[in-house]
Amino acid sequence: MMTTDLKMRIRPSPALRGRVKPPGDKSISHRALMIGAISEGETVIRKIAPGHDVAHTSACLQTLGSVIERSRDNREMRVTGSGAYGTGSDRYAGNSVLKVPSRDLYCGNSGTTARLLAGLLTGLGLPATITGDESLIARPMERVAIPLELMGARINLAAGGTLPITLTPGALSGITYESQVPSAQVKSCVLLAGLGADGITDYHEAIRSRDHTERMLAGFGASVTGRDLDGETGPCSVTLVPGDPLTGREVNIPGDISSALYLVVAALLLPSSELLLEDVGLNPGRRRALDVLISMGADIQILDERSVCHEPRADLLVRHSGLKGTGISGPTVTWLIDEVPILAVAAAFAEGESYFRDVGELRLKESDRISAITRNLKALGAEVEEYDDGFSLKGGDGYGGAEFISSGDHRIAMAFHVAALACSGESTIHNYDSISVSWPGFRETIEALGAG
Ligand code: S3P
Repeated sequence: MMTTDLKMRIRPSPALRGRVKPPGDKSISHRALMIGAISEGETVIRKIAPGHDVAHTSACLQTLGSVIERSRDNREMRVTGSGAYGTGSDRYAGNSVLKVPSRDLYCGNSGTTARLLAGLLTGLGLPATITGDESLIARPMERVAIPLELMGARINLAAGGTLPITLTPGALSGITYESQVPSAQVKSCVLLAGLGADGITDYHEAIRSRDHTERMLAGFGASVTGRDLDGETGPCSVTLVPGDPLTGREVNIPGDISSALYLVVAALLLPSSELLLEDVGLNPGRRRALDVLISMGADIQILDERSVCHEPRADLLVRHSGLKGTGISGPTVTWLIDEVPILAVAAAFAEGESYFRDVGELRLKESDRISAITRNLKALGAEVEEYDDGFSLKGGDGYGGAEFISSGDHRIAMAFHVAALACSGESTIHNYDSISVSWPGFRETIEALGAG
């Protein structure tokens, strides 16, 4: 993302104590806005994620003609849907309030916005050009262009297979698609396009990626079913039968587990800390980082597990703990891919060695996260080795403070903010304003719990 070099000074922190509700889940917020915009009637979204990424989704939908109102405290959004899909053979009912955009759709730093919108617009038969900031226009987009072309759309990408992507609608058919990359964004793109296709869309993946789109589509009335083909960690398929009307509804968004984990790890690292994190989403495709921390020795209690709006959630009670190193590899890395930066920080303060392998996808995120993590771990003072598909490190303590570089990446900035709190001296984080992508109030929240 475009950042000014905002240098944030972070001092060593005393214990964190208290209770806190992490911000609403970013992945679910994008989907609630998009699916609300194509459903009949009103969708009220409570506890929508803060930050620029979700604001970009909302702005793109408004450019397409969606009526979206935000409450004064910014925590609730009301989407008046278009009812874009009819029923029966005349599925594209033509009563959509969504229209051909008069300008390019700018997604900022948000890969989820770009990739899901590509599918949504293809399904609606709306021609458009989608683009983003200098980080997003470097990220791979063939992964969505290939299945959309197989469905019948015409897609143009920039020379490197990147944004801007130009969509030209055509007659669309459902496909059976074997995913080439473990990606919920690709799956969601194909399913959203499948809503406007003739015939069934069947999507196969080697391991189930986060299934927020399937859960939400089903909640709005779509016929979508997922099946594990060989146990929870084996291949699975999702089948979407288009044609059912989607109806607006209330969506109560759980707290974002990916954001919550910065506070969880801060509490684990800072002696005498005790935090209660309320209403945290525990989607099976997102909770694995918690299990990893528990296996490292973290004292985390999962309380009052429940399901609201088709998404599991719970409260988390976290107490300072001594941690041991961990080893992460294999297909289930998909379930913690966004959490590797903060798990790497936990591992840096743990006893013994840790490794993170099979996480090559991290090189294609908002920054090359493998190189950003290893550079900052070295700055911290940890012994690190970098590989094409990950890194290993030796944990320790007695870190005195360092200069960290966020690489314009929100997750790197927040992870090393947590590292800085646990150092014995002052640290600086460069390009700190990148955190505004997902959690602009992170620093204030952590300070209210005792830091600073
Ligand atoms: C997301 C899916 C993941 C994740 C990203 C959000 C989503 O990306 O890394 O932060 O909301 O679908 P991929 O599906 O490309 O792995």
